[in-house]
Amino acid sequence: MTEKFVVRIDPGSGLAKTGMGNLVRTFSSLYERHDPVTFDEFSRFNGATKSDIITVDLGPAGVYQVGLPEAVGFNERVIGINRYKDPVWAKLMVTAALSKFPALVRADNPTITLGVLTPYALLKDRRTGGMDVSKTLTSSMRGLFNVPFGKKIVPIRVSTVKVFGEGLTGFAYFAYDKDMQLKPQYQNTNTLYLDIGRGTINTAFMCGNRPHMDTVRSEQWGTNLFYRMIARNLDQSAGAISPDRVELMIRSGTMTKQQKVVVADQSAIYINTMLSYARAVESQVDLPIDRLIVFGGALYVVDAITETLTNTYPETLFGDEFTNLRGLGLLLGDGDESEQDS
Ligand SMILES: Nc1ncnc2c1ncn2[C@@H]1O[C@H](COP(=O)(O)OP(=O)(O)OP(=O)(O)O)[C@@H](O)[C@H]1O
Ligand SMILES: [Mg+2]
Repeated sequence: MTEKFVVRIDPGSGLAKTGMGNLVRTFSSLYERHDPVTFDEFSRFNGATKSDIITVDLGPAGVYQVGLPEAVGFNERVIGINRYKDPVWAKLMVTAALSKFPALVRADNPTITLGVLTPYALLKDRRTGGMDVSKTLTSSMRGLFNVPFGKKIVPIRVSTVKVFGEGLTGFAYFAYDKDMQLKPQYQNTNTLYLDIGRGTINTAFMCGNRPHMDTVRSEQWGTNLFYRMIARNLDQSAGAISPDRVELMIRSGTMTKQQKVVVADQSAIYINTMLSYARAVESQVDLPIDRLIVFGGALYVVDAITETLTNTYPETLFGDEFTNLRGLGLLLGDGDESEQDS
């Protein structure tokens, strides 16, 4: 007997997310040295204790390691690799994701279908002769994985890999019903979706459910850029402030009056960049945007983003950093996403 499972992975550059059925888990992106999310935020979604967290990272001397945090020394960053093309990165992603679901250990001969996200713009490139991300990911993410569960290592087989476009899956979450029919309010209307993550903004202009291919983009304007903008504008008389420090400052809310002013000013500039971009797309395709859909972690950190966007586009809808993962669940028929965690 084999038991079948669907596991979904959204390998974000700020925070990797994985889902199986109704469970949602997060883990290190394998991209930054530390999870930028604090343990408290982390446990909100995981209900986990610190000892449950299995971290996968690049260890000393460039050796990839998998293990409990205490057992792993972090000396290196995985920055600089082409994430979607690196087979080791892909294998670590799958190992880390599978390790989040102990039900797989208890299952009788589990076979897994993996749904994985890559920026939709990279898949578009493939059609135009760019890099074949889908093929690379599929071959790296299939096969037998030795997955750590606590102190045990359990072999688990991934039999099928399906690659979907990050951003587009978030749109699908809003626009499709459970039977995969486009909702009436999305028929004959134009939507611009903005998936604003840590590293990138994934975006496309949608006519109904058809992306306008010239507008499918993955740009380096994620919250990282926002933090850099703030860092540049803060009073640096006490020394330079790193973008990571800026993120901590914003998220903890501990700011001086002057810092609050800088953050509010830069938030306004950052949002205006989005609005100018939306206007530019409207002239590019020569069609009006009827509705914006905005999701991704930026919504937590950019001041007044919901109000400002809604002022210009009253039909704006908002998601969160799990919207892509939910959309992937819808497309794969996995997970009743009314529940975010067990
Ligand atoms: N719960 C939260 N509270 C505060 N800030 C958050 C939260 N979740 C995400 N963020 C912010 O958003 C960023 C990550 O957003 P998101 O998860 O959408 O990015 P990502 O998908 O990992 O990155 P990308 O799509 O660019 O690869 C974090 O680095 C942080 O700045
Ligand atoms: Mg993302």
